[in-house]
Amino acid sequence: MSLVKTIPSKQKSFNLNSFKKAPTYWITTFGCQMNKADSERMAGILENMGYKKSSEELYADLVIYNTCTIRDKAEQKVYSFLGRQAKRKHKNPNLKLVIAGCLAQQEGEKLLRRVPELDLVMGPQHANKLQSLLEKVETGQQVAATEESFIEEDITTARRDSSICAWVNIIYGCNERCTYCVVPAVRGSEQSRKPISIKNEIHLLSMNGYKEITLLGQNIDAYGRDLPKSNHEGEKENSLKDLLYYIHDIEGIERIRFATSHPRYFSKELIKACFNLNKVCEHFHIPFQSGDNKLLKAMSRGYTTDKYKEIIYDIRELMPEASITTDVIVGFPGETEMQFNNTLSLIKEIKFDQVNTAAYSPRPNTPAANWDNQIKDNIKVERLKHINNLVEEIAKERNQRYLNNIEEILVEGINPKNNLQMLGRTRTNRLAFFPYKDHSEPKDLIGNIIDIQVKEIKAFSITGIIHK
Ligand code: SAH
Ligand code: SF4
Ligand code: F3S
Repeated sequence: MSLVKTIPSKQKSFNLNSFKKAPTYWITTFGCQMNKADSERMAGILENMGYKKSSEELYADLVIYNTCTIRDKAEQKVYSFLGRQAKRKHKNPNLKLVIAGCLAQQEGEKLLRRVPELDLVMGPQHANKLQSLLEKVETGQQVAATEESFIEEDITTARRDSSICAWVNIIYGCNERCTYCVVPAVRGSEQSRKPISIKNEIHLLSMNGYKEITLLGQNIDAYGRDLPKSNHEGEKENSLKDLLYYIHDIEGIERIRFATSHPRYFSKELIKACFNLNKVCEHFHIPFQSGDNKLLKAMSRGYTTDKYKEIIYDIRELMPEASITTDVIVGFPGETEMQFNNTLSLIKEIKFDQVNTAAYSPRPNTPAANWDNQIKDNIKVERLKHINNLVEEIAKERNQRYLNNIEEILVEGINPKNNLQMLGRTRTNRLAFFPYKDHSEPKDLIGNIIDIQVKEIKAFSITGIIHK
């Protein structure tokens, strides 16, 4: 089976050699951390090819929209962006237009027909192959690359937005079948990277000055189940817990995070590992989706609210100050007022540090989209408002625990909204600001871990002063 489909294009394609100055690129990223990590890799590939980052979306010679399709809203946004670029292409046929990511995977070749100005449609599994795909485009064809594909190792090229914190993919795809979710269809089956490749990538990051890494997977607890056993030193299994031990001592890396956790597979051993390994930060992102057991079953999530609470209590027993964040869907098909109240109750009981809330959005080729017990839009909107008020109230309350604390902050840079302040994060992933006026050279602070005393609390950030 061929990897890519190509369609002869009516558009004149361009050639890198036709540029006197270096050609420029622009990438807009929609969606989750996976997409951000993919965008950084694609940017790295483009820079290796001789492209420079454009300062303006509407002047770039090559534009990539790295898309998301998790909800309908995400999808609609992309089409409005594309319209603008399509117009530009009529005036400048040299413009190269690329749709990457999950919407590209979902729509495939259909997108080329819907937006004939497009040069390339490429699914997330093809991000590493951007160069060869662009070379195909240069021969004057429209290209669609959306076939299931093995993700090749490519660790040298990412152009990362931060010079301190880096994403590191450890498992691609998802084998779960949550009845509302489009991710398995667009990201394909699970593919775990080998522990040695992950270790090498982190080692390289540390040599380049990175201090913090976040291991990424849609269901990170599934890490290793598709790998052969006994494939790294001294360990019989390849689980997330084993991987944490395996990478923990890489010199230069000060903090390790991971996301996203799935309550169905989250283990006590993992909690113990996080407690024992001092670089692993006390922050857990564990989506619960609904506080009602019947709905959880309808969602095919594979756990009950009791199991979920047990996980949280186990974490808090060892790490009482750990921050717990989550995702919730309201207005899932069939959700009654009482079932919605069960979700509110769970939020009140757990007291999350942050909750990402979403109204259920029917997605193509997902079972729940075809059920006839859909909730009306006005009810979804009402429930969303209600839950958001509660979430903010609780986050504020929970944040109070930081007041006057001495917190360890990894300094990431200057606050873009107030250049007299620097910003960083606590181990619990709370955004933190502090003035640097005593330090004549703020650059010296970037990448360091410093103590601040917390003086002011907002719902999603804290402000403090450097603690001597
Ligand atoms: N892998 C993660 C979630 C990835 S998608 C997990 O298993 O929890 C990110 C979030 O988007 C989900 O947690 C869910 O809350 C939300 N989401 C996914 N599909 C959705 C849909 N069809 N409608 C509304 N929200 C959705
Ligand atoms: Fe979607 Fe479920 Fe996979 Fe998360 S675990 S990406 S919600 S199918
Ligand atoms: Fe969106 Fe794809 Fe991530 S659908 S949330 S970008 S995996």
